[in-house]
Amino acid sequence: MTEEKKLVIIGASGHGKVVADIGKKCGYCEIVFLDDDITKKECGDYPVVGTSRDVCQFKDWEIIIAIGNAKVRRQMQQALSNDGFRMATLVHPQAVIGENVTIGTGSVVMAGAVVNPSSCIGVGCIINTCASVDHDCILSDYVHISVGAHVAGTVTIGEGTWIGAGATVSNNVNITGECMIGAGAVVVQDIKEIGTYVGIPARKSK
Ligand SMILES: CC(C)(COP(=O)(O)OP(=O)(O)OC[C@H]1O[C@@H](n2cnc3c(N)ncnc32)[C@H](O)[C@@H]1OP(=O)(O)O)[C@@H](O)C(=O)NCCC(=O)NCCS
Repeated sequence: MTEEKKLVIIGASGHGKVVADIGKKCGYCEIVFLDDDITKKECGDYPVVGTSRDVCQFKDWEIIIAIGNAKVRRQMQQALSNDGFRMATLVHPQAVIGENVTIGTGSVVMAGAVVNPSSCIGVGCIINTCASVDHDCILSDYVHISVGAHVAGTVTIGEGTWIGAGATVSNNVNITGECMIGAGAVVVQDIKEIGTYVGIPARKSK
């Protein structure tokens, strides 16, 4: 008999709702949320059954953290992994994943996203709706490629960096960790300093 797949999602937000939808499409039969906002009772079609402190009741479930803030996501995922919890990795059935792509645990790849061959996605990453990551890219842990953002080939992105909605990163560019690339920005050269970058071409905002 095959065991039923059960998923706990931490973070009952709009992002969490999308994550739940992917979970359902990936065959999870039971899905519940945990959220530290005790006023939240449901998220989409699924119940909020407690706060993140209640996660210990779900030792035999798989867990995914649906929190946009990379620092919070990293802190929670590292703590849960150290405590032996099983982190899920979710790839929407309508995402396109090329050959020799690796996707780290706790990462989510959403509908319409494309990850082309030989790219490496770290742990706890978000490849959001209709985003693309082309060939031979290396995305470190907890990177977020927002909806409709495009990363061309042979790009490296450091830990925790967030590429905003509809932004573009040119091929062969390296972006350091902990950066924010604003919505619609176009990154055409390496970014070596932590900061927020906006515009075309992307420049550090003051
Ligand atoms: C870049 C960003 C982080 C800046 O946020 P912020 O620090 O709150 O900045 P503010 O909104 O106060 O704007 C500061 C200035 O930058 C400008 N600015 C903000 N975002 C910009 C962007 N993406 N591109 C160009 N200029 C931008 C504002 O117009 C403002 O200019 P002004 O001082 O001349 O009026 C934010 O605007 C952004 O792009 N976030 C990405 C959101 C996103 O992609 N979400 C996707 C979810 S999947």
